[in-house]
Amino acid sequence: MSWMTGSKHAMIRRLIPWVLMTNIMLVLHSLSYTNQVTIRVSQEETCALSVSKSLQQSKAMLSPSSKSEECSPKGNIMFMKTHKTASSTILNILFRFGEKHKLRFAFPDGRNDFFYPSPFLCSQVKDYEPGECFNIVCNHMRFHQEEVAKLLHPDAVYVTILRNPADLFESAFHYYHRAVPLTWGISGENKLAGFLNNPGAFYSPEAFNSFYLKNLQFFDFGFDNNLDADDPQIDAGIQYLSSHFHLVLIAEHFEESLILLKDLLCWSMEDILYFKLNVRKSSFVSQLDPEMRAKALQWNWADWKLYQHFNATFWVRVEAYGRERMKRDVKELRRRNAEMKAICIQGKNAVEPRDIKNSRFLPWQPIGEKSILGYNLRQDIDPKFRTICEKMLTPEIQYLSDLGVNLWITRLWGWLKDKIY
Ligand SMILES: *[C@@H]1O[C@H](CO)[C@@H](O)[C@H](O)[C@H]1NC(C)=O
Repeated sequence: MSWMTGSKHAMIRRLIPWVLMTNIMLVLHSLSYTNQVTIRVSQEETCALSVSKSLQQSKAMLSPSSKSEECSPKGNIMFMKTHKTASSTILNILFRFGEKHKLRFAFPDGRNDFFYPSPFLCSQVKDYEPGECFNIVCNHMRFHQEEVAKLLHPDAVYVTILRNPADLFESAFHYYHRAVPLTWGISGENKLAGFLNNPGAFYSPEAFNSFYLKNLQFFDFGFDNNLDADDPQIDAGIQYLSSHFHLVLIAEHFEESLILLKDLLCWSMEDILYFKLNVRKSSFVSQLDPEMRAKALQWNWADWKLYQHFNATFWVRVEAYGRERMKRDVKELRRRNAEMKAICIQGKNAVEPRDIKNSRFLPWQPIGEKSILGYNLRQDIDPKFRTICEKMLTPEIQYLSDLGVNLWITRLWGWLKDKIY
């Protein structure tokens, strides 16, 4: 550990907020745990059970109006929000849809995630009562299917999004490395290459926040992210997900993904219009050369298998949807997005954080840098578009606030983060 001596003071200074934060988390976690024990007593009570009871009571009223060709828009959705996969953009779409149709979100309490990286428990949901139903679950969590299922109608649609693990690794490394003490000792300009050239020298599965550095997607889904490449649990995990998720979106084919989502949920084109949120300034993105990409995939082997599997099934879905039809729809989506950009955005493009005039549109920044771009609302905006534009431009944290989520832990953390660096 010779690297420690040179920067020992800096290191200790950087550790303080983490130790503080970890302690706060532990206290909060034990608080939520007592809560959970009391709930356990009547755990059989789930949303599905309540629904089937009320169905029996009112069978006549709910005679299925199916048979007709027209589908009706679906509003019971589990969106498993993975990290660094363009999922914030999907969240904005879900927030808008849920708000418009007055759907009930299962939100976390006090922060913007469900005590990630602890596995999800329904007791973490704000205002949770056993047997009650929620329409949409979409905040960051470590997936735990049985717990999620307790909150949702049995017909809920499960959706998630994956990204090529080489790019995801680069993104996660960049975004989180200051939060992962394992990386603090890597010397040289290019820490990412330093790590990938010899991950064994830096990585340890037990270290604080180490999951950000290896198979982060596999981890998000609740699996062990440190399996050997030939461990059969990797395939078992993939099979598990394919049996529980109705659609797996692919970040690299974002527009096609949204068209498939719209089709599955029976939504309109208007429902899936979007602006890219949480995009990193390009000078903060390291281009991986082919050798580094190969190393990143090797290192994130479980994620790579996961991605390849769902990339393959994705294209089968596109095929079934119709290639030509897909092309047409993507073109239409692009046209309408461009139209909205012209209507809503000053200068039509994303700008650096320091150029964002109104803090309501300023996205959350990673520790120690201002790299995440945002937008300015057009100054001469047509009043009839103001509301929709504002919603489309509002970053996750601010939108959660608007939807009534108390975010005191997130805010405290944000304050600490800005104070220390
Ligand atoms: C994803 O699937 C497509 C279609 O089968 C294929 O051309 C492409 O190479 C795949 N991408 C990866 C990264 O596996």
